[in-house]
Amino acid sequence: MEYRIKDKSLSSYGKKKINWAESHMPVLLSLQKKYQDSKPLKNLIIGGCLHVTKETAVLIKTLHAAGAEIAWSGCNPLSTSDDIAASLVVDEGLSIFASRGVNNEEYYDDIYSVLKFKPHITIDDGADLTIEFHKTMDEYGSNIIGGTEETTTGVMRLRALEKNKKLQYPIIAVNDAETKHDFDNIYGTGQSALDGVIRATNILLAGKTVVVAGYGHVGKGIAARCSGHGASVIVTEVNPINALKAKMDGYIVKPMSDASSVGDIFITSTGCKDIITGTHIEKMKNNTILANAGHFNVEISLNDLANLSTSTQNLNENVEQFILKNGNKINLIGEGRLVNLVAAEGHPSEVMDMSFANQFLSVLNFAENKNTFENKIYDISQEQDLNIARLKLESMGIKIDELTASQNRYIHDYGEGT
Ligand SMILES: NC(=O)c1ccc[n+]([C@@H]2O[C@H](COP(=O)([O-])OP(=O)(O)OC[C@H]3O[C@@H](n4cnc5c(N)ncnc54)[C@H](O)[C@@H]3O)[C@@H](O)[C@H]2O)c1
Repeated sequence: MEYRIKDKSLSSYGKKKINWAESHMPVLLSLQKKYQDSKPLKNLIIGGCLHVTKETAVLIKTLHAAGAEIAWSGCNPLSTSDDIAASLVVDEGLSIFASRGVNNEEYYDDIYSVLKFKPHITIDDGADLTIEFHKTMDEYGSNIIGGTEETTTGVMRLRALEKNKKLQYPIIAVNDAETKHDFDNIYGTGQSALDGVIRATNILLAGKTVVVAGYGHVGKGIAARCSGHGASVIVTEVNPINALKAKMDGYIVKPMSDASSVGDIFITSTGCKDIITGTHIEKMKNNTILANAGHFNVEISLNDLANLSTSTQNLNENVEQFILKNGNKINLIGEGRLVNLVAAEGHPSEVMDMSFANQFLSVLNFAENKNTFENKIYDISQEQDLNIARLKLESMGIKIDELTASQNRYIHDYGEGT
């Protein structure tokens, strides 16, 4: 076992949080129970790069229980829970390389510490590990069977790699499972992004104007929850269909150049860059709050914010206040990084239960069918999606109807009309 974490003495706090997550992740735990004796992942090294949270710890423990050797790093410099990392090292004896607040060099050192284990299967969130792996396949790639990707931005990067014919091993796009993005991205980020804004600022949302940039899965969840708290919501978009959906869901739709002078709180969730730049910041009201829920810290231009400012001060651990040359104060949460992970605890366990059940079953798929994949991006099967939804419903004590034979024939046939 090797590790690089902040403080082993935090392990008892981490263990209690992991126990809490476990009690809210019945689907993943049912998989742990099912595979802990047969150990289908025996002799496989899993190289992970995913936010070290209590929910991720349950995934890691499930993979380990199924026989895998684990080497794991964080996938964002500010998203590691140091107590969880400590518990994984102290209580589980696993190789963890992750600390909250790592600098750029340490962040990539942690990723390379994982790659040095020569993983058979990678699990990534944002594709930083997968991309670095691609640069060093000669050195570390001798065992690789396949990898999975957890988030929209990571899938976009890997699809670009595939399009350029540079993808060197098969990837399963876990993000694209319905039981992942239709729940985790919408309800998970929707709730936890607001949790982050509220924990960082204790701002009253009722009566405020919140500008949500991007009305995809994440933006939709954030907008609905802001609206539920009594805020007026403005959506900015580049996709005409999603802009229309936002309008018909009852929100005001405007370009950022118009929204920037009226918003009290801005939350970006596009997966794109330069959504809020200097020209927008100059128009903003005094005391505006800025936060980002997209994967990377490129949605709010931090350079422009710094260049427009005469000084800054930290209001608390997660809020930096910029005093602009025009006298206005602009408050940035979590250095423009994922607000729900920096200023709160990330997605609630209940949604990660489904996302990580998808991760576990995708890893199992690679282990059981290792020679059948090409160097392509694969979607998870509809069968797996339906199975996870069924298990989740079951765990919630919910029954649903079943198609009768006659209904089944009807919807798959063309014969019966008027
Ligand atoms: N914070 C988290 O825990 C978390 C969870 C899931 C996903 N994510 C990240 O959030 C981001 C969005 O994910 P998603 O699943 O909602 O993606 P999505 O593709 O469903 O939605 C993105 C939306 O942003 C819009 N958009 C793109 N560029 C834009 C621009 N320049 N201006 C305005 N709108 C623009 C797109 O048209 C689209 O509607 C990604 O970076 C993803 O990795 C974060």
